[in-house]
Amino acid sequence: MSGLAERRILLGVTGGIAAYKAAEFTRLLTKAGAQVRVVMTRAAQDFVGPLTFQALSGEKVHTDLLDPDAEAAMGHIELARWADLVIVAPASADCIARLAHGHADDLLTTICLATESPLAVAPAMNQVMWAHPATAENVERLRTRGVTILGPASGDQACGETGSGRMREPAELLGDCTELLGPRLLAGQHVLITAGPTREALDPVRYLSNHSSGRMGFAIAASAARAGARVTLVSGPVERSTPAGVERIDVDSARAMQTAVETHIDAADIFIATAAVADYRPSEVAERKIKKGDEDGRTLALARNPDILAAVCARSPRPYCVGFAAETDAVAENAQAKRRSKGADLICANTVGAGIGFGDVESTLELFDDHGSVRLGPADKETLARELIGAIAERLSAPSREQRNETP
Ligand code: PMT
Repeated sequence: MSGLAERRILLGVTGGIAAYKAAEFTRLLTKAGAQVRVVMTRAAQDFVGPLTFQALSGEKVHTDLLDPDAEAAMGHIELARWADLVIVAPASADCIARLAHGHADDLLTTICLATESPLAVAPAMNQVMWAHPATAENVERLRTRGVTILGPASGDQACGETGSGRMREPAELLGDCTELLGPRLLAGQHVLITAGPTREALDPVRYLSNHSSGRMGFAIAASAARAGARVTLVSGPVERSTPAGVERIDVDSARAMQTAVETHIDAADIFIATAAVADYRPSEVAERKIKKGDEDGRTLALARNPDILAAVCARSPRPYCVGFAAETDAVAENAQAKRRSKGADLICANTVGAGIGFGDVESTLELFDDHGSVRLGPADKETLARELIGAIAERLSAPSREQRNETP
């Protein structure tokens, strides 16, 4: 039976070309056994007619704040109480702004204000509108209030531009709803996660670093928090907002990341090392900006950084340890060798290179542990994060080799 069977989902549809995808999303929800009631804004009805949603959900579509058919004309309160989950998909920039400012001048915004159930929004808009500081502020405001922001994805847009702002695909949103309403797989667990790059200073203005954007680690943190875990995220320098319910510690260098991890590791049940930690740092950090000399070349002396993951794996007792392996070639072999050398319980291999692996791209993870390997994706990093959290929860609930009296 699907995790959505009998669950009551209120789908808000706002005005935008992605409204047509909301029809497919409704179909997938009802196919999964959910009860779906659809609320459409005025603008949404210019893109798709209410009859489409009525046919797909098998329920009357709601469009007006004042509903004479509802008891005491309080339809919005009834709908707000009825829903196990309210999800707005697509959520236009205007809708996000009105939700962020607590407006209640139409049925959808009123329900969002009146509901005590989880609220999720799936933004869909032009990439410049998504990148606008006003939208970023509104999204951040919603996030800190506990609203789940699903996406957006990046790629080709209906307006002919390419970038971040596409609504997540209906099948991905279906997975998001399952996670939001599903069993809290990591309830009672404390998860410590590293994310992003580290910066290793050369002098006061220069550093050595890499292309990690933090997206993978932040997606894992968000997913672990949604799965009921207490999450501490140690992040290298990235421009990302903190996922709801996550405690964040910002660091810059590998050594600062190690100190933060050491401070929190005793309380952790699960450690997930997603960060792209610099293996080396300049042996000396110049106090002043290094000046150009007359010589043709220069040699930079490097010192080895601590291996944070290996140090956590060597502890006793230790948390369940998950490492990542970013490889450009021989991905599976290198990842398995890394798992053995670091002593991790599970390693997630991914390919990196120019335009691959880092940032807002689709990716693939191959998970290796004592029992074999499993491939996740290709998919966006939020989907991979959700599946990875499911895979970790499954491994933690399965009896260990020791418990089954097996010899390795
Ligand atoms: O941030 P994004 O743009 O979303 O990109 C995601 C990612 C590609 C950075 C991520 O998916 C990933 O692969 N992270 C690990 C990158 C890496 O440094 O891999 P590695 O093979 O060098 O290290 C192996 C493991 O040891 C990693 O878990 C790493 O966090 C850990 N490590 C490495 C060196 C070190 N000094 N300390 C560590 O803890």
